[in-house]
Amino acid sequence: MTDATTQRIALVTGGSRGIGRAICLTLARNGVTVVACARNADALKELADEAQRREFAGRIHGRVLDVSDREAIDPFVENVATEFTRIDILVNNAGITRDGLLMNMDDEQFEAVLTTNLRAAFWLTRTVSRLMVRQRYGRIINIGSVSGVMGNAGQANYAASKAGLIGLSKTLAKELGRRKITCNVVAPGFISTDMTQVLPEKLREGVKELIPLARFGEPDEVAEVVAFLASDAASYITGQVILVDGGLHT
Ligand code: NAI
Repeated sequence: MTDATTQRIALVTGGSRGIGRAICLTLARNGVTVVACARNADALKELADEAQRREFAGRIHGRVLDVSDREAIDPFVENVATEFTRIDILVNNAGITRDGLLMNMDDEQFEAVLTTNLRAAFWLTRTVSRLMVRQRYGRIINIGSVSGVMGNAGQANYAASKAGLIGLSKTLAKELGRRKITCNVVAPGFISTDMTQVLPEKLREGVKELIPLARFGEPDEVAEVVAFLASDAASYITGQVILVDGGLHT
């Protein structure tokens, strides 16, 4: 049974920092109970402590999961579903980059990015969607990237993984729409996180010239869009790719 009074439970991957962390805090602020997963237990504890200090005490629960560990996924989801009774919202946010020009890219570089960014989303979505079908309710949000829409020199692996998420999400929207499950992609442009901090200053400045809003985005600006798509208010939106990129891809 789901109605307006159902306590929503969200599972957010890569919740310990950056965009994932902002998503966890925004969902919690909106009244959602959040299970944040990442590999680093200390960072997850720090996130739960932050929630404790704010008005949404007790709404964020950290659980350790390496999403690239295929064997860990099903038991993990089963434990979360048992402990929290349901999973209404799944945000596949965990992601990595291993940049390099395609000509020089080795198999490991390609596979590592594909596994964390795309295969893990497939494994988690497959398992969680079975619960959602039984609940006849679900919101799946995959964090893509403007690179997956436009391509980006030096990111063949990353762009392929993020473009793959678009195909996966549009297909799922078609397969599960009748069960009241929506699936959308939020595709950020350049956002100020650890992922973009590593870019050379010259490149960061050059990129800003290409962005109509002339700055990098903030994690909260992505999180707000995710929180909207995760909410009951977004009930008629599915199969979409929402760019949060300051107008970079226009
Ligand atoms: P980040 O590097 O700050 O955070 C990534 C998060 O994913 C971390 O919490 C990390 O622990 C987690 N993670 C990585 N591998 C994992 C694994 N195997 N198991 C569990 N957790 C894992 O990156 P950021 O910027 O917050 O990125 C979040 C998402 O947004 C990623 O999917 C990224 O591709 C996407 N994105 C980021 C952009 C940016 O400009 N920062 C632009 C476009 C997309």
